[in-house]
Amino acid sequence: MAEKARIAIFISGTGTNMAALLYAGLLETSRYDVVLVASNVPDAQGLEIARAEGIETFVHSHKGHSREEHDAAMEAALIASETEYLVLAGYMRILSDDFVRRWEGRILNIHPSLLPKYKGLDTFARAIAAGDSHAGASVHIVTPELDAGEVLAQAKVAIRECETPQTLAERVKYAEHQLFPRAVTDYVSRPYDARYVYERVRDIALALPETHARDSHGSPGFRVGAEKSGKFFAHFSENHHGSEHIAVLVKTSGMDELLDLVEAQPDTYFKPAYYGASGWIGLILNRPGTDWVHVAEWLERSWRSAAPARLTKLHDAAGMF
Ligand code: GAR
Repeated sequence: MAEKARIAIFISGTGTNMAALLYAGLLETSRYDVVLVASNVPDAQGLEIARAEGIETFVHSHKGHSREEHDAAMEAALIASETEYLVLAGYMRILSDDFVRRWEGRILNIHPSLLPKYKGLDTFARAIAAGDSHAGASVHIVTPELDAGEVLAQAKVAIRECETPQTLAERVKYAEHQLFPRAVTDYVSRPYDARYVYERVRDIALALPETHARDSHGSPGFRVGAEKSGKFFAHFSENHHGSEHIAVLVKTSGMDELLDLVEAQPDTYFKPAYYGASGWIGLILNRPGTDWVHVAEWLERSWRSAAPARLTKLHDAAGMF
């Protein structure tokens, strides 16, 4: 079982969603710990709730600071508290693109609409004016484009006749309080769910030309070429031979490169047992914020080293268009 994920929560207001996350996080079975609550509004009510529960708080008003300066102060607090995931719960500031990129895949937000409908503000009034049957809330991954990242979970709330934006907002909050802790729990658990991780690796591997899945010594692997004579370019490894990692093994250029990578980035790479000096390196996937673009680049490189020239040439030609 993985350790609990360390999450920080940014708020600007009442902080009822923060409270829902915080109390869910205090349950024994929780998969995360709230390690920091931070705000850009010095008297945000939610800060008091966090303090009362002994959670570290941090306040930095955005007034008189550029977006970058303000983000830098908030980020320093995240780093000091060894935060792994940042959760935005009614944080009414847009984060700078650079900040979001540095934390890519590790920031979640709750937005009070059924995305992709009604990004931005006044979501309830807009849903009512449009005559929608339902409003709701969405938990999504934060990307530089506002409210546009992958939606992880949604809760629907019926719109009654004579509904006002205020009455709707109140009910949507009840739904948010159920939704948010679950969505955060599911998201932080993903890297430790071998099936989820495997399926992601498989989808990337099998999207490469002429590939197929094949077990090797009891572990799933991926080969390029004909079904009978293909060559392995990746092995999936789930706590194999006592290793604590869920990982994909890919081929480096040789032992020099392998050892350099393991030494420079021990949180990302390891040398798998029983692969000798063959150059297979383990890419660690059971950790927060796995960079899947990086994983895809490695899989392609490994595929390239195993694929026959006719395939790599075709692949290069296709890449030019
Ligand atoms: C929540 O309804 C949340 O969805 C919304 O602010 C409210 C915060 O309430 N977020 C946004 O509008 C983000 N664009 P809370 O402070 O009581 O949790």
